[in-house]
Amino acid sequence: MFLPVVMAGGSGSRLWPLSRQLNPKQFLCLAGSESMLQATLRRLDGLSHEAPLLICNEEHRFLAAEQLRQAGHEDAQILLEPIGRNTAPAIALAALHAKAHGNDPVLLVLAADHFIENTEAFEGSIRQALPMAEAGHLVTFGIVPDQPETGYGYIQRGTMLESGGYAVKQFVEKPDVETARGYLESGEYFWNSGMFMFRASRYLEELEKFQPEILKACQGALSNSEQDLHFIRVGAEEFTACPGDSIDYAVMEKTSLAAMVALDAGWSDIGSWSALWDVSGKDDVGNAFIGDVVAENTRNSLVHAEYRMIATVGVENLMIVETKDAVLVAHKNDVQSVKKIVEKLKLDG
Ligand code: GDD
Ligand code: MG
Repeated sequence: MFLPVVMAGGSGSRLWPLSRQLNPKQFLCLAGSESMLQATLRRLDGLSHEAPLLICNEEHRFLAAEQLRQAGHEDAQILLEPIGRNTAPAIALAALHAKAHGNDPVLLVLAADHFIENTEAFEGSIRQALPMAEAGHLVTFGIVPDQPETGYGYIQRGTMLESGGYAVKQFVEKPDVETARGYLESGEYFWNSGMFMFRASRYLEELEKFQPEILKACQGALSNSEQDLHFIRVGAEEFTACPGDSIDYAVMEKTSLAAMVALDAGWSDIGSWSALWDVSGKDDVGNAFIGDVVAENTRNSLVHAEYRMIATVGVENLMIVETKDAVLVAHKNDVQSVKKIVEKLKLDG
């Protein structure tokens, strides 16, 4: 038994113009008919677990509650943050809440916006991780890398443990591209999938060692929280004063208790339009079309039409996304820069 903790406070800005501040990536139906959040929970159906705990920004509370209800998770609790302070504090709030209301459960910390093709393989990795987490490890789920991606954490595999998992020699969050190339060539490194499994108390102990300020602020915020139906609104003043940091930098790079289980399940964090193209169903010339699209001599492109028909002629490797008020046309090799457009729009707005 474990407690799923779903982190749903990100902005998904690289998937603009579909992903917006008021309706970010985790709440969108990007790969199929359910939202990324709903798919995240459905993926747990074959495992025995407690009612999930969601943690997201206050401004998304109704969206989150409605999607949970639709997916049959009326029993989920929703922790509301007044402001994003990144994942280390979000997970600290969840761990403190879980410890106060239960018997120090094992938490399965999940991102609400990831795609996993093979649910059975995913379940296998979770089952393998559970006894390791019960035994006191901070378990990560490692993906075999195929490129020197700089937006991920890297896990250097150590010796094999009895459970079949591995000790972690080193955890490096978002290395530069030269370092990432070296890691890839060594064959000893895995990508961090961004999911974790550990006992609530174990995470809090490690956080206290490495980032006591975060723990203190989160304790203050939670002791000043208000419960309103399934919503738990944490103390705004205390939480706003909390330093921002991700679990990866705050704890995983520093702890000596990390372990890793391999995850070979067709994982993608759909971090960009080209990543969505990668996991989408495509025709025999590599096109993924959604909505009313007419194409002539078009290859390896993603075209998403919501309000108007889109016609393409003689183009390839384009990501075209049409919404009510904005159209994006990007080259497949430059999709990371979509973030820069969002930053520009923020400055102008
Ligand atoms: N509640 C809450 N509050 N959730 C948050 C916050 C926050 O302040 N910030 C981010 N999240 C959620 C996001 O919605 C996402 O589901 C998850 O936490 C991870 O945050 P990202 O911002 O997407 O992290 P990342 O992609 O830069 O890096 C992480 O994921 C990579 C794999 O996708 C790291 O764990 C990397 O090591 C990892 O490789
Ligand atoms: Mg991410």
